[in-house]
Amino acid sequence: MTGPVSEGLDGIAVGETEISQIDGSTGSLAIRGYPIAEVAQEATYEETVFLLLYGRLPTAEELTGFRKRIASNREISNKVKIVIEQAAQEEKSAMDALRMGVAGANLGHERDNPEADAIRLIAVFPTIVAAYWRYRQGKDPIAPRQDLRHAANYLYMLTGEKASEARIEGVETYLNTVADHGLNASTFTARVVVSTQADLVSAGTAAVGALKGPLHGGAPGPVLEMLRTVNETGNPADYVRSTLAGGDRLMGFGHRVYRTRDPRAAVLEDAAHEFYTESDDADLFETAREFEEVAVELLAERVPDRRLETNVEFYTAVLLAGVGVPKELFTTTFAISRVSGWMAHALEQLDDNRLIRPTAHYTGEIDRSWTAIAER
Ligand code: CMC
Repeated sequence: MTGPVSEGLDGIAVGETEISQIDGSTGSLAIRGYPIAEVAQEATYEETVFLLLYGRLPTAEELTGFRKRIASNREISNKVKIVIEQAAQEEKSAMDALRMGVAGANLGHERDNPEADAIRLIAVFPTIVAAYWRYRQGKDPIAPRQDLRHAANYLYMLTGEKASEARIEGVETYLNTVADHGLNASTFTARVVVSTQADLVSAGTAAVGALKGPLHGGAPGPVLEMLRTVNETGNPADYVRSTLAGGDRLMGFGHRVYRTRDPRAAVLEDAAHEFYTESDDADLFETAREFEEVAVELLAERVPDRRLETNVEFYTAVLLAGVGVPKELFTTTFAISRVSGWMAHALEQLDDNRLIRPTAHYTGEIDRSWTAIAER
């Protein structure tokens, strides 16, 4: 087969979606037609999930029922806890533990239907992550509470104490902001899995694996380390120059689709600003702003043909650190949100499914003949 190859499927449309719309040239993102800034500020996470799964905003009554449905699915079985405890004892990463926990999410549950699997997965992600964190501290997991909102319950399960409204709001804004984002690598992975008519638990497990890498969801931890280093040295320009001179990438900058600043960076910067101005210590936030300015200028000198600005991960690190999510849980907190996007896409794929099966140009050897093992 001939014809052009698009490395990394860059710019290739592989289907249609009604879930989220991205314009990479103007830097805009809308969820089911609602601008991301509105979703981030106005919604509770449960409303965002409803919007993603069913395509419209819930009525007050529907939202109450939907919240209950998620809350009543939060428990994980002892079998899953054993796996997570083992992962924590072996000091596996939080994403490894999440992948193992998600793979077992249907243990003790009858296979229902795709929509029930979707709700169950969305509900258990925070429970798995929090259980892992508790085991890492040598403590027992804290059972989820049905009376708390998704974001509040997540923070509660990490410590056993009810978080302040400011912290809950910070986490909720974050969860709303990153819940869906077109055909990013992990969402595409989920769609590929269900396109084979496999179940949604398999899709969620595979998607966790795809999200783990630093080119996708693994960047905010390194961003925080970078900002802390710069905070100490007080010299952002030196940091940027030496990173780029060493051939390394600057974490939290650049994006496959955006040729502008990632619109989610603006939303999360605002949320971080709001949070930090109310706290005593706005140092990290100030460092981040200064770093961004310096880095964008130096990146433009270094890579003049590609506009490199902050992506979602940059202010994710600042906001999540502020609201007290441990750095080790940044990527799993991303997953706690994005699982709703994965599930919405998986259901959309199933709705009008065709097996996803692309091709590759073969560039290997041809016309060889077999050499017997004794003669090699
Ligand atoms: N720092 C320095 N140079 C960069 C960066 C960066 N962060 N990003 C891109 N470039 C340059 C680089 O020079 C590259 O040229 P070369 O091939 O010579 O290395 C050129 O831009 C094109 O890069 P690319 O790898 O073809 O771009 P891509 O569309 O494949 O990659 C990206 C997008 C996000 C993987 C990349 O910008 C990157 O590695 N960023 C740093 C990691 C990061 O912040 N990841 C989080 C991504 S956003 C979260 C999400 O939506 O999942």
